[in-house]
Amino acid sequence: MAKKVLITRIIPSIARQLLTKAGFEVTVWEGEGPMTQPQLIERAKKVDALLSLGADKLDKTFFSQCSHLNIIAQFAVGYDNIDVPEATRLGIPVGNTPDVLSEATADVAFGLMIAVSRKMFYLHKTILQGEWKQFEPLKNLGMELTGKTLGIFGFGRIGQVMAQRCMGAYGMQVIYHNRSRNLPAEQKLNARYVSFDELLQQSDVLSVHSVLSAETKGLFNSHAFQKMKPTAIFINTARGGVHNEADLITALQNGIIWGAGLDVTNPEPMQADNPLLAMPQVAVLPHIGSATIEARTGMARLAAENILEFYRHGNVPHCVNPEVLTEKTN
Ligand code: DGY
Repeated sequence: MAKKVLITRIIPSIARQLLTKAGFEVTVWEGEGPMTQPQLIERAKKVDALLSLGADKLDKTFFSQCSHLNIIAQFAVGYDNIDVPEATRLGIPVGNTPDVLSEATADVAFGLMIAVSRKMFYLHKTILQGEWKQFEPLKNLGMELTGKTLGIFGFGRIGQVMAQRCMGAYGMQVIYHNRSRNLPAEQKLNARYVSFDELLQQSDVLSVHSVLSAETKGLFNSHAFQKMKPTAIFINTARGGVHNEADLITALQNGIIWGAGLDVTNPEPMQADNPLLAMPQVAVLPHIGSATIEARTGMARLAAENILEFYRHGNVPHCVNPEVLTEKTN
């Protein structure tokens, strides 16, 4: 009998095409937004595999009713919406979609850095408000990036591409902090591993590229901002939960750090009256890191391939809990 797959939003059609061509019975949730958890559970109960998105809450409540799933293939590199230990306990492999979105996401981090350093988003708004009257010799001054120190928090693929961009464009020195050292990447990018405190103290631009986990949740809070340079720019394109938004607002209002560029906020979506949106040295985007045709198509393809390979060969090419697969084959 054909295996059934539920895709929880409309995503690039290649995912459905690949699965259908391989004989799967595919259902796509075509609603405007994500399903509520009860809607998701009701539908997931009827399928063998789930192709999920970041807005789907796959927590203990979900797994208590959907423990029958063979595989979950997440359409994202991040998977903080999934209780992975619970999936692992139940023997369900969880796939994700790394690499294909690294260039796109690093571009957003890089763009936000420049936008913040020259107050671009804010100054654009002043034109719309009819405030461009004449050339201003002493107003609207930003800061240059050439030769500055870039601090990367989370030196995975996206963080490394950001480092490459900043070195090539501005000759920036790269320092990083990560769960573990990455010697090949250090050599390639002439990057220096530092402690978390050193990262805070030495970075002119500090860009977050880590996962959201119990260790990183709220890590960039008032204590962390206090240790940063008053001229520093904070960039987050990873997950909004890694910074404490109230503390970030206070740090910017009091000149503890200079500016911030966010593609992810806490909560999402950010409300239109959020004080960050009115600050000259702040640029905010609505979580568009992977929003290119190339990246989203690649993500859809990888998510489908994770499912296909699992059923064909018992392998999930991009698996976040590979121990489940080892147990299955032993
Ligand atoms: C990711 O892939 O994690 C992006 O943030 C999209 O959710």
